[in-house]
Amino acid sequence: MNNPLPAIIANLKASNTWDQIDAWIENTSKELQNFPGTVIFCPSSPFLAESAKKIKNIGTKIALGAQDVSKFDQGAYTGEYAASQIKGIVAYCIVGHSERRKYFNETNNDTFEKIKRLLESQITPILCISDESQLDHYLSKGTFIKDNIANIIFASEPPSAISGGGDFHPDTPENANKVCKKIKEKVGENALTIYGGSINPDNVAEFFSQPEIKGALIGQASVNPDDFVKVLQNAQSN
Ligand code: PGA
Repeated sequence: MNNPLPAIIANLKASNTWDQIDAWIENTSKELQNFPGTVIFCPSSPFLAESAKKIKNIGTKIALGAQDVSKFDQGAYTGEYAASQIKGIVAYCIVGHSERRKYFNETNNDTFEKIKRLLESQITPILCISDESQLDHYLSKGTFIKDNIANIIFASEPPSAISGGGDFHPDTPENANKVCKKIKEKVGENALTIYGGSINPDNVAEFFSQPEIKGALIGQASVNPDDFVKVLQNAQSN
């Protein structure tokens, strides 16, 4: 994984039209010239291919990620898209997000299958971990996760901290750091651990001052590029 730190992931969820996404890429690119880390932009799936073209055309260093993927390979699965279909379009993909679990009944087994499909297609999974039991489940399946830690981003994402588009109610930076440390103890010291949940321009520097938090998964504060640019600016201020 080519991942200079920190990694900041913009998870737009089901927000924005193509015109807004086009403007997002333009506006954020200007700021990125001086940003030392990686920005991984995750728009809704219908806009991935067009976003990839736009990023290439304007020569910006934004990386592209999907917000989800099918647990199946290509086949008769209406509405799905397979990892092998987004290979070459995205370099990253979020998996196991608590909103997929809450609204679409995704299970630990589903997430584990998705991780496998992504790695088969050389796409880096951004694995959302709501609690320790999920990680324990994946680890109980053998050495697969540990064997692939260099190619997975581990995101501590307590559902209670996710804004859902409403008020921000983050975990404390100290506790988020502890959870990241725990993840590393379980999967391996070299794991790249990040935090997500109510990160915004006002608190990002505090989270990044923690030693185990090497990046952020950002929902609400990524929808509007002006907010997101402030996150990038403040991320560098600690
Ligand atoms: P939030 O979302 O930044 O709006 O809390 C984070 C996430 O869902 O990962």
